[in-house]
Amino acid sequence: MTIRWSLSRASAAPEGDDWLGPEERAAQAGLTLPKRRAEWRLGRYTAKSLVADLIGARRLEEIQVIAAKDGAPEAFVGSERLRMSLSISHRDGVAACAAAWDARVGCDLEVVEPRTPRFVSDFFTEREREVAYEVDDSLRDRYVALVWSAKESALKVLRAGLRRDTRSAEVEIEELAAPGADWSPLTVAVSPEGERFEGSWFQDGDVVMTIVCDVPALRVAGHDEKR
Ligand SMILES: CC(C)(COP(=O)(O)OP(=O)(O)OC[C@H]1O[C@@H](n2cnc3c(N)ncnc32)[C@H](O)[C@@H]1OP(=O)(O)O)[C@@H](O)C(=O)NCCC(=O)NCCS
Repeated sequence: MTIRWSLSRASAAPEGDDWLGPEERAAQAGLTLPKRRAEWRLGRYTAKSLVADLIGARRLEEIQVIAAKDGAPEAFVGSERLRMSLSISHRDGVAACAAAWDARVGCDLEVVEPRTPRFVSDFFTEREREVAYEVDDSLRDRYVALVWSAKESALKVLRAGLRRDTRSAEVEIEELAAPGADWSPLTVAVSPEGERFEGSWFQDGDVVMTIVCDVPALRVAGHDEKR
């Protein structure tokens, strides 16, 4: 099983609305804050480009990525919903999308930056808190960003987002000191379901990306327009 992913930066999104479908234009019209509108457009562009690649569509307006009632993005061609699972994240002028046909996926971008002990104590499990205190100082910000990102990815797989307690997803990073340029493995134990999700992460500059999936993924494949 392959998870496809893509990253793009703000300058990649086309001007005008020709590449948006009617329901997307209606959704955009409801976004009045310029920052939110810009990140929504970049996320849509990234997701639609990835879906177009996957189904061999020539024109982005043939595809619509529409939020379901719970907020999760779903891809449509005309009125037909594509069977694939999609996930979108945006951070600091960069958007990411992950997609898979036969699995539920979630992806997330986070900035590696100092966070307060309160953040860790409020949102992390006991085991994650222990690791946060044990890790080398030079890796702590990366660890905290990765755990938070992987939790968000897992909660996107479940289509719950932050409606759900972040401590119901416990993250384990296998090789925290990995160089970060290539994908490295992580796992997320989800309770009370008792599910175990597999994931991958990489770091580019001060941004980490995680992808989490509910079935074992043989590989992640994609491209990064940002590099
Ligand atoms: C999912 C969520 C954790 C993402 O927040 P975030 O980390 O700040 O933002 P990201 O950029 O990483 O992800 C945003 C994307 O997540 C996706 N998303 C939103 N709700 C989702 C859900 N329930 N399941 C899966 N994905 C979801 C959307 O595609 C959204 O981007 P878009 O609206 O531009 O399409 C957050 O939006 C959330 O908890 N949503 C559900 C609860 C809710 O709606 N609360 C109201 C706002 S407080």
